[in-house]
Amino acid sequence: MRLSHCVLILQLFVLSEPYKILVYSPSYAQSINNFIGNLADSLVEAGHHVTSVIPIINPSLRDGSHKSKKIYVNQTEEVKKITDGLLIDEIDLFDFNDFNPLTYIPFGSAFCRWFNAQCKGVLDEPGLVEKLKNEKYDVMLLETFDTCGIALSHLIKPKSLITTAGSIPLQMQGGEFGLDPALSYNPNAMISHLDIHSFSSRLWNIYAHFLFTFTWHTSRTEDFSLPKCSILFKNSQEIASHAAFSLINSEPLIDFAAPTLNRVICIGGIGAKEPKKLNKDLDSVLSLRNKTILISFGSIVVANKLPDRVKENFLKVISRFPEVTFIWKYEKPEDDFAKAAFNSTPNLQILSWTPQNDLLADERLTAFITHGGMASTQETALRGKPGLFIPFFFDQPRNSGMMEKNGLGKVFSKYDLLDEPKLYAAVKDLLENESYYQNAVRIAAMIRKKPFSARDQLVKSVEFAAQFGSFSSLRPKIFDMNWIELYNADIFVVLLSMITFLCFGLFKLSAICVRGRIVKVKDD
Ligand SMILES: *[C@@H]1O[C@H](CO)[C@@H](O)[C@H](O)[C@H]1NC(C)=O
Ligand SMILES: *[C@@H]1O[C@H](CO)[C@@H](O)[C@H](O)[C@H]1NC(C)=O
Ligand SMILES: *[C@@H]1O[C@H](CO)[C@@H](O)[C@H](O)[C@H]1NC(C)=O
Repeated sequence: MRLSHCVLILQLFVLSEPYKILVYSPSYAQSINNFIGNLADSLVEAGHHVTSVIPIINPSLRDGSHKSKKIYVNQTEEVKKITDGLLIDEIDLFDFNDFNPLTYIPFGSAFCRWFNAQCKGVLDEPGLVEKLKNEKYDVMLLETFDTCGIALSHLIKPKSLITTAGSIPLQMQGGEFGLDPALSYNPNAMISHLDIHSFSSRLWNIYAHFLFTFTWHTSRTEDFSLPKCSILFKNSQEIASHAAFSLINSEPLIDFAAPTLNRVICIGGIGAKEPKKLNKDLDSVLSLRNKTILISFGSIVVANKLPDRVKENFLKVISRFPEVTFIWKYEKPEDDFAKAAFNSTPNLQILSWTPQNDLLADERLTAFITHGGMASTQETALRGKPGLFIPFFFDQPRNSGMMEKNGLGKVFSKYDLLDEPKLYAAVKDLLENESYYQNAVRIAAMIRKKPFSARDQLVKSVEFAAQFGSFSSLRPKIFDMNWIELYNADIFVVLLSMITFLCFGLFKLSAICVRGRIVKVKDD
């Protein structure tokens, strides 16, 4: 009895042997840093040895991982130049129109030049590739929006590769994972409402798909001065296709249902931290009135840079709900607008930073007015709060549409922020429509009761890949086909030709018969 216990304990010990894991985490967007950082930290908590390689593309961002070992690759001179030229702080996201190819395509290619310049820095960093190769990692995890990690994985040859997407798999990422975009019913990232029965709506979805793909595809084909990179990058899809698993930041219980594969694993919500108690000040703010609404547009849309008219409309609407406290994440609480607003509007609290997750988790918080970033929408659903979703750019329209589809509130066009009565009506609806609150509570309970948590899925998949290395059974054949084969275009062309010939033949035959009859009738 005792002995078998010992064997059991020994087995457990052997089974939970730590693996060596490399996480490639290019620092270009805070939400991506947070997502990948949480993956790394979850794996550290599961007992593994995790190293994060962090190329600094945008130096103003915070690290996402707090527990893994880190190797930084500093911004190269060229990246610095591009960063200064991008004027990230100056981009007017209110006016920015995703559907205008004249502004969207140059925006995308500037980003891709930025990624690629830093990639050159990573691959050129003295000794880095060699060092990582010698470590013989069991698993390498990478986000594929920036393809540099794919190139690096090819050079350092980990035992197995896991690709990830910090949002839903965006177009070319979907391609790398082997997913069908299902354009007739799966909305593009830039689309909030897709009417499956409407010709124009589906056409618009196809347009968005191709515009998005074209805009961001440049990162995958751009030639480098380094010949080894240009060769690698043309093959990024081929290299990524051999990944053991693809982890995507989607919560299937709220997402649009679309075609998937066995190796694609949804770990949406992994970023949501356990909520902490609010500090004393915020705690008393939430007790001021029976209802409290949080307004926050995330880390990229800066509230103080919104058009004056929009800010004034918010203020007017807020003052029309004196029985509701509004907490507004506003980056410059010391500017003239904020000071005047503070004096004129007693039910408004302006804060330069808010613990969003902790606020959403507090039962006194009523609802959320948000830009609909992936993390924000997931946290909103997880905490059982309804929202008014005001997408500004990128994947925010689709995330917002996903929330409306689930009855968790409404999508509101950013351009309608210029229209005060419309904004008032939307906030009134958010406060008064009971169905949003019922749906929010139900969906939050469903997410909590899911049979497998996102964290379990992550850890178990990574350990499986670490143990067995790369395996091909989950890799679909789609990667080895050209589009003619994939869409059976050759078969359709042959069948169509046969039918056409047959019809033509029948037509000719009947024409001969008819002529024959006429001749016969004439003869009679
Ligand atoms: C990277 O930059 C940091 C600070 O900017 C500096 O302390 C560090 O030495 C740099 N590392 C390398 C390898 O240049
Ligand atoms: C706030 O809620 C309490 C308890 O439900 C209620 O007695 C009070 O009338 C409410 N106040 C307002 C202003 O609605
Ligand atoms: C509440 O919202 C739902 C979903 O949009 C809608 O069907 C319903 O009519 C609304 N109810 C009220 C009272 O406005």
